[in-house]
Amino acid sequence: MSVTILKGTIVSAPALGKLEITENGYLVARDGRIEGVYPVLPEQYAGAFVEDFGADLILQTFADLHLHAPQYPMLGTGMDLPLLDWLNTYAFPTEARFADTDYARTVYRQLSRELIAHGTTRVCMFSSLHTKATLILMEELERAGVTGYVGKVNMDRNGLPGVLEETTEASMRDTLRWLDRCQDTCRIHPILTPRFTPSCTDKLMEFLGRLAAERGLPVQSHLSENRAEIQWVRELHPDCEQYWETYAKYGLWNDRTLMAHCVWSDEWERQAMKNAGVTVVHCPDSNLNLCSGTAPVRTMLTGGVRVALGSDIAGGDHLDMFDVTAAAIRASKIRRMTDPAVPAPLTVAETWYLATSAGAEWFGEQPGFAPGNALHAMVLSDSALPHGKSLTPAQRLERAVYRRQPNALRAVYSAGRKVFEAPTD
Ligand code: GUN
Ligand code: FE
Repeated sequence: MSVTILKGTIVSAPALGKLEITENGYLVARDGRIEGVYPVLPEQYAGAFVEDFGADLILQTFADLHLHAPQYPMLGTGMDLPLLDWLNTYAFPTEARFADTDYARTVYRQLSRELIAHGTTRVCMFSSLHTKATLILMEELERAGVTGYVGKVNMDRNGLPGVLEETTEASMRDTLRWLDRCQDTCRIHPILTPRFTPSCTDKLMEFLGRLAAERGLPVQSHLSENRAEIQWVRELHPDCEQYWETYAKYGLWNDRTLMAHCVWSDEWERQAMKNAGVTVVHCPDSNLNLCSGTAPVRTMLTGGVRVALGSDIAGGDHLDMFDVTAAAIRASKIRRMTDPAVPAPLTVAETWYLATSAGAEWFGEQPGFAPGNALHAMVLSDSALPHGKSLTPAQRLERAVYRRQPNALRAVYSAGRKVFEAPTD
């Protein structure tokens, strides 16, 4: 039996809009699972080693539920085009390079380490269409201590001929091969990933829907991100009144489905999400960078739709989920200013929940540092920032969302293991 005890200012999000705060508290885990958060160390742990982080903040780590690993090399570039042109001009050629497995290894090792160094320990990630590179990505995430899901991308139409494309048969065959080879990977699991409706023929969608049902696999894709995209889907599927139906009709629409963006989803599409238990992944930085719009997140939440957050690199220009949290608050303010139906922008506590607990719930965990959850925690120092001592823990969290000192993260724990420690000087 192994016990981990972390001492500090413990802040977690046990419910939407609520923060639970324990100053000078103890976060205790046994064999990698949380036992509890205590203001006083229980008798039974007397004499056990305590990692004392002083007044530093002990926070839940981030769940980034939507990002594109093979777009990491183009991070921070190519922000001058809207979605469909951006895909053809920048994203597809960048992803094509992942046919080279050595290149994939180098890039994915760096990406995996950077995720951990930013406190992201759970992901749902798109790979490229390449099977080998996808397996390499899974290995590198596992090695760095990231947990979650990775999908080999399926795209058998409207790619770049001769650059990034696969036939329907190759897409189906390679998906089965990939699934056969990733069964042994323990903390990174497969997720079926039709890129988006314009990228997949009906035959491929039908195959993926059957596979999801037969093997109980989750599904991730994109939905209602951009108006030209929605119009294109209408032309491709005249039988469907709404975009979401193009997934639902193939069995790709249920409570294990993640749909990125949903910027333009109307009340009917939102109702369909709520009814099926689909989770929306809100990616505010990407939505602004690609001029897609601002998603109606407040309306989704009050309507009972599940929402989590994603960096969506490289439509998003960074993978720092503190920054994505701040961007989600800003986007909700823009929405509030432009949409009279929105009663209030998102608060820090609400958005912190979306960045941490909401994602963890999709992984089957309880919100906050609940007993029984795997230990996913990060320690954040703010002692080098001015006036730290006069702020409440909630104010310190707010400041952390908007502003961090250099090398603010002191330690990161993922699935019970310490996977990052800041170098001591
Ligand atoms: N829709 C289909 N593919 C993509 C992608 O790579 N990024 C974004 N933002 N939207 C997409
Ligand atoms: Fe995306």
